[in-house]
Amino acid sequence: MTVDLLSTVRSRAGDEPVQVGLILGSGLGHLADTVDGVAIPYEDLPGFPHAGVSGHQPKLVIGDLEGVRVAILGGRAHYYESGQAAVMRGPIELLQQLGAETLLLTNAAGSFRADIPPGDLMLINDHINFSGLNPLIGEPTDRRFVNMTNAYDPEISTQLESAAASEDIAIKSGVYAWYSGPSFETPAEIRAIKILGADAVGMSTVPEVILARFFGMKAVAISTITNMAAGMSDENISHEHTKAMAPLGAAKLEKVIRRFLRNISVNPGSKPV
Ligand code: HPA
Repeated sequence: MTVDLLSTVRSRAGDEPVQVGLILGSGLGHLADTVDGVAIPYEDLPGFPHAGVSGHQPKLVIGDLEGVRVAILGGRAHYYESGQAAVMRGPIELLQQLGAETLLLTNAAGSFRADIPPGDLMLINDHINFSGLNPLIGEPTDRRFVNMTNAYDPEISTQLESAAASEDIAIKSGVYAWYSGPSFETPAEIRAIKILGADAVGMSTVPEVILARFFGMKAVAISTITNMAAGMSDENISHEHTKAMAPLGAAKLEKVIRRFLRNISVNPGSKPV
């Protein structure tokens, strides 16, 4: 990462280390607007992608949320926008350089499970890289051989489950499969991915978790389920539908994240580091 980027951000947001980094998915940007802090548009940040997907807010927000200093990426770039699996490398490295030892990722996803219907949250406990792509291809150092066992940190995931329970919000765990997009999956692909062992599918998060682990951060992730996956219901799957459904889960997700952060700030012993 260029020194430029870190100093640009520090000059605007201050030097105080960040505790938790967050990446917000489609339709989940509201949380970033409630942070007491500084918002920096991606266009002011050298090397940041121009997140061009509607429903995302391309800004970095740094400040206090529920007593915890956070850095939020309000929008993500996806592989399907540029054909580059490493497109989020710079932003994720920046979060790590700012001090975040934990990265909490969120996304919108299609579910395969009748017991995790649209509007519900799914805690990701593992993933299947159905795309076969990898953001570390071309990384020249031996650090590229990242161990992906327990990539979704079990301890912090338990803290998220407790936060959900305290808010009376149901959250089941499952496996997320990364599909490159931008077209949605066919019903036959969904049947195949389901047989492979996935519970939900989406077009993000997996390369970001690989990058987070590469940079030595702990990762946890939550999907908001916006639809049943292709062929599993009569819904017409579309990006419009994803954006329209995201707020249903977003309200729950926001409560879970707030409670999770509040627990950290009230009880620093539970700090996810
Ligand atoms: N497939 C892929 N990505 C998605 C879906 C889906 O069904 N829903 C929301 N994002």
